[in-house]
Amino acid sequence: MKELSKYLIRVDAEFKDGQIVPEIPYEEVMRLVNEPNIVIIRTGIPQDTLRSIIQATRDWAAKTPLAEGPDTFDNNQHKQRLHIAKIQQAPQLFHDHTFDAILDLEEPMKQTLLSVFNPMRQFWNNLTGNNEEYGIRKGEPYFHPQVTHYPLGGSFFGRHWHPLNPQKVGTILALNQYGKDYTSGGTGYVINDHIVETEGFQDMGDMILFRYDLPHWVSPSSFADRFSWDDPAGRWVAILPFYNPWGTPADKEEPQGWKTQIQSAKNATSEATV
Ligand SMILES: [Fe+2]
Repeated sequence: MKELSKYLIRVDAEFKDGQIVPEIPYEEVMRLVNEPNIVIIRTGIPQDTLRSIIQATRDWAAKTPLAEGPDTFDNNQHKQRLHIAKIQQAPQLFHDHTFDAILDLEEPMKQTLLSVFNPMRQFWNNLTGNNEEYGIRKGEPYFHPQVTHYPLGGSFFGRHWHPLNPQKVGTILALNQYGKDYTSGGTGYVINDHIVETEGFQDMGDMILFRYDLPHWVSPSSFADRFSWDDPAGRWVAILPFYNPWGTPADKEEPQGWKTQIQSAKNATSEATV
């Protein structure tokens, strides 16, 4: 375990029998996340496996027409997002591939994706005390596995936030390498009015964990590069959101509930020691 900067901690892990096993207990990882800190799990997932996710996603996208119209949350689709979110007013520009129906994908695409999304799912289950499987469940929370491409030349995702539950912990796995495959862009957070940038700290195979109600964003890829939707260069990540798409969206106001929680935890501690 290593403190990389203020509120940014790296935890080593072993990739064993298809499972990400952290060097410290899950409860300890969860405690660090909730404190809150940004925790980077060095998963140890082999680079070939990570690269195969990008390749498989690109091959699949090449033969799958871009989705248009409102999201239905019940299929496998990819979409070029260029949009300002209605409620939070967060601007975004990226290409996402959402596999809500991951179990319906054809082989070998399905196994390739599951080789990374299953370890992520099990890790998240272990961390949050859940035991969730893939599959669409109308009116209930379920997984929305996603592979996101941030093209060179100005892709980004503006500051936004989510309800803490039921996700509790957000997961962002780097599928390629900063400094080699791309040279700018990364996820940033605000903790106790302090800005935590993870750009440059997340290597390929590193999985960021963050309290889901922390305001966060993705800093832009450099405008010095030429932008193209068709160029696969740029940052690729795998994320595993868990939510009910028809549930209550995040509030317009930024959630600062965790701040109050920290305050009350401190009060409880000082009362206990008096
Ligand atoms: Fe987010």
